Amino acid sequence: MFKISNGNPFESKEECLIVGLFEKPEKFTGILENLDEIFDGELTELVKSGDISAKYKSLSVVHGLGKSDVKRFIFVGLGKEKELSFNTLKEAYGAASKKVAGMRLGKLAVALDTFVSSKITAEDAALSFSEAYILSTYQFEGYKQKSNEPEINIETIKIFTNAADEEISSAVEMGSSYGKGTNSARTLVNLPGNMLKASDLAEYAKELGQAYSFEVEILNKSEIEKLGMGAFLAVNQGSTEPPYMIVLKYQGKDEWKDVIGLVGKGITFDTGGYSLKPKDGIVGMKMDMGGAASVLGAMEIIGRMRPKQNVVAVIPATDNMVSGNAFKPDDVITSFSGKTIEVLNTDAEGRLVLADAVTYAKHHGANYLVDVATLTGGVIVALGLDKTGALTNDETLFEKVLEASYEAGEFIWRLPYTEKDKERVRSSKIADLNNSPGREGHAIMGGAFIGEFAEETPWVHLDIAGTATTKSDYDLGPAGATGVMARTLALLVENFDLEKE
Ligand code: BES
Ligand code: MN
Ligand code: ZN
Repeated sequence: MFKISNGNPFESKEECLIVGLFEKPEKFTGILENLDEIFDGELTELVKSGDISAKYKSLSVVHGLGKSDVKRFIFVGLGKEKELSFNTLKEAYGAASKKVAGMRLGKLAVALDTFVSSKITAEDAALSFSEAYILSTYQFEGYKQKSNEPEINIETIKIFTNAADEEISSAVEMGSSYGKGTNSARTLVNLPGNMLKASDLAEYAKELGQAYSFEVEILNKSEIEKLGMGAFLAVNQGSTEPPYMIVLKYQGKDEWKDVIGLVGKGITFDTGGYSLKPKDGIVGMKMDMGGAASVLGAMEIIGRMRPKQNVVAVIPATDNMVSGNAFKPDDVITSFSGKTIEVLNTDAEGRLVLADAVTYAKHHGANYLVDVATLTGGVIVALGLDKTGALTNDETLFEKVLEASYEAGEFIWRLPYTEKDKERVRSSKIADLNNSPGREGHAIMGGAFIGEFAEETPWVHLDIAGTATTKSDYDLGPAGATGVMARTLALLVENFDLEKE
């Protein structure tokens, strides 16, 4: 899709050329001076009159009208050079890409060097552009009957730059991988519960494993029973669909050590069970495998980038249903770890399946654990819809996750996790743990419960209940699934540096 060219973009015959424009005091300098000449100084005039705006994220379409062979330019306002960062640039690229995608063109070009500044290298710009283009033009096909209007999609995107080809092409490869991995995660989340059952998730993981040569292990119900994963099985008990414990291993080091465990909640639909969700709360619960999707999206990125790290991904996949067989409040169950759990709320099912998945990740040698889950409505109350909540037992690991999240542009905020919180999840009179110790601070309770199974292993919990989906379109994507944390997890793995401990 992306092609690199070293020619002069302004002397090309492109149908549509994206050009970056920083807010500048007076005259154009650098490569834009050349464009201004082609326009006989008209560009300067249009900027002065405000017909072309350099204000951050403003988009101005200008036609070549014979002066230039380029048919049309899209000027992307970048604001003040000093204020533009890698992530704000990405949003501007997203806004521009969306605009172009709506123009029904077959080809697109970008004058990459117009986006380069003292803070942003050509490689950064290439990475940012390729990722933003793929993210922002994502669409979930859906199930509407097709219209007869022929589709016109952009098939080639030419990147004009004077920077070294090799570096630009590896930046584009990286940006594309991050974009595609995130989009795969989005699609998994957007699929309705009847189209994506636990078995489909397992099949998807198997195919991912084949494509990127991961070691794949998929435990079926009888294997899960043999291992004694009583918490996972309890959640599945009311379902006619069998559960699967999905494991993918990526070995990037000579030895299987320093293993990063990525654990994703894979509830393909959450009715709440006997602690049934109200009719308004149940709609949308196809997204309850968002954590699994983030992990699978990250694994796709890892499979393409092939970092020198070891990763084990573990996904407990099932739905949470109601039937005569379903588990009930007051039931006491025994987890894979041996810890017993009093079930006070069958709608607090995520922590149950994750308990056994976290234990299983440790069985596979995980030395570090990150779990990702659409775990609680409480995190939405606490942090809103645009922040992922975190909990940790390890400062160093948390720092690494936080750094990765900055780089990915995905906001994380840490919640407190104290001895008192641990006491609350241990407060059952008849079992070791209690799966729902009350509504107060219940985003913390959800995480703290999982922490009981991470035990001494450095662990970070990420609650994406608010961030896994969004109600409205945004610069880097449409309404619906966001694919949040796929990039953060992949960056965590890629940048994982044991020296820093
Ligand atoms: N899947 C839900 C959490 C959720 C809520 C995700 C809203 C996305 C949007 C989870 O399984 C759940 O039901 N959590 C309960 C826990 C409670 C019963 C302790 C909740 O948050 O209400
Ligand atoms: Mn639930
Ligand atoms: Zn749930």
